[in-house]
Amino acid sequence: MKNIKTTKRLITSALPYVNNIPHLGNLIQMLSADVFARFCRSRGYETMYVCGTDEYGTATETKALQDKKTPRELCDYYYKIHKEIYEWFNIAFDKFGRTSNEECTEITQSMFNDLDKNGFIKEHTSQQLFCPKCQMFLADRYVDGTCPKCGATDARGDQCDSCGTLLDPTQLLNPKCHTCGSTPEVRETKHLYIDLPSIAPKLEEWMKNASVEGKWAQNAIQMTRAWIRDGLNERAITRDLKWGIPVPKSGYENKVFYVWFNAPIGYMSITKQLEDELKSAGKKSFDWKKWWLPSESDEKFAEDDAKIELFQFIGKDNIPFHTVVFPCSEIGTGRDYTKLYHMSSTEFLNYEDGKFSKSKGVGVFGSDAKESGIPSDAWRFYIYYNRPENQDYQFTWKDFQEKYNKELIGNLGNLVNRTLLFINKNYGGKI
Ligand code: 2FM
Ligand code: ZN
Repeated sequence: MKNIKTTKRLITSALPYVNNIPHLGNLIQMLSADVFARFCRSRGYETMYVCGTDEYGTATETKALQDKKTPRELCDYYYKIHKEIYEWFNIAFDKFGRTSNEECTEITQSMFNDLDKNGFIKEHTSQQLFCPKCQMFLADRYVDGTCPKCGATDARGDQCDSCGTLLDPTQLLNPKCHTCGSTPEVRETKHLYIDLPSIAPKLEEWMKNASVEGKWAQNAIQMTRAWIRDGLNERAITRDLKWGIPVPKSGYENKVFYVWFNAPIGYMSITKQLEDELKSAGKKSFDWKKWWLPSESDEKFAEDDAKIELFQFIGKDNIPFHTVVFPCSEIGTGRDYTKLYHMSSTEFLNYEDGKFSKSKGVGVFGSDAKESGIPSDAWRFYIYYNRPENQDYQFTWKDFQEKYNKELIGNLGNLVNRTLLFINKNYGGKI
C-alpha cells in the first residue's frame, strides 16, 4: 500500500445538467463524494473535489427557447440555483464550476486536436433524425422509442435504461420527437466520430488492472466488460447545434461538440477554473495539470513518488461514459491524463412508487428540501444512510420520518448525548 502522504485524492461527482432544479437523486453523488472528500481531508490526504454544472447541449437550447432566454442567460440563472442548493446541503467542494467557460473550450479542443492528429477521428455522413415540426435535428436524448435489443418501450435515442445498451437514435423502433411527439424523418448530415474500436485494445488492457486496483463498483465492472465484449463502435462527437463548444476543423463551422464529449473534460476544466480564479484574485494558486496531467506540469507535488487516485461518483446510467468513452478519449490523445481509479456508481433512488422525474416534476427537489423546514443534516443523513449501493432504493416520506426518529435521533443522537453526559459527569468534560 502507498504511503498515505504520497497518495493524492482527486474526487469528482457527476456534473448535473444545468437546465433544471436538482432532485435528491442528483444529490446522492455529490453527497457521497462530499463525505468521502471530508474523510480524505481528515486523514491528511491532499484532496481536490470538483463538480459543476453541465451546461451545453440540446436540453439547454430547447429550454432556453421555451423560457424566452438565451442559453447563456438560462445557464447563469440555473447555475446560481444549483450553487445555492448545494451550499444549503453543505457540500464542501473545492470548486463548483461550469462547463460553458473558456477553460472547457480550451481543453476540449486540445484533446480533440490530439485525437485527430493521432488518427482517431473519422468523418462520416450519417442519417440523423430531424423533426419536421420543430425544424431541427433531434439530439439523441430527445428521441423516445422502443429499444431494439430488449423491447423496452421507454428507451431514449442515446441509451436504454432497462438493458443499459447505448443506442444510436436511428436504431430506435417507433421513434418520436420528445418535444412535440411527431414522427421524425431521417436526413443526411456530416459528423466527426471518435474511433473507439481502434483504441479498444488499450482500453481493455487498462480496464483489466484499473478495475481491480481501484475496486470499481460491481455494476461498473459488469457493464464495462459487457461493452468491451460486444465490441465498441465509433461514436459521433459533433452535433448540429449552436450552444456548444466550436469544433476546430474546417467544414465544421456550424457544428459543436456533443455535450457528452466535453462533459467529463469538465472535471479537468473546472479544476483549471479554480486555478484561474485564484490567480485573478491575486491568491496562491496551482497548476491544474498537477492533478490531471502531472507528467506535463511544471509544478510537482512535494513527494517524488506522489500518486494521484481519481475517485468518481456517478449514477449507473452514466457508467459507460466514464469507464469507456472518456478513458478512450484520454488514451487516444497519447498524453498521460489522470484516469479513473475508483468508480463508485450507485443504483437509482426512486420516489414513492415511481421514478424521480424533472420533466414531470415528480420527486423531492433541492428547493423542496430547503423549504421543508427539515435541517440539511437530516437530509444528508437520510440520503447517505440509504445510498442505493447494490439495488435501487425507494424514497418515501414515511421512511424518512421513521429513519430520522429511530436511527438519527433514537440511536446516533442518543449515543452522542449519553457519551457527552458521561464525559461531563465523570471526566470534567475532557476526552
Ligand atoms: O446525466 C447527467 O446528469 C450528466 N449531466 C452527467 C455528466 S457527468 C460528467 F461527465 F460530466
Ligand atoms: Zn418535434
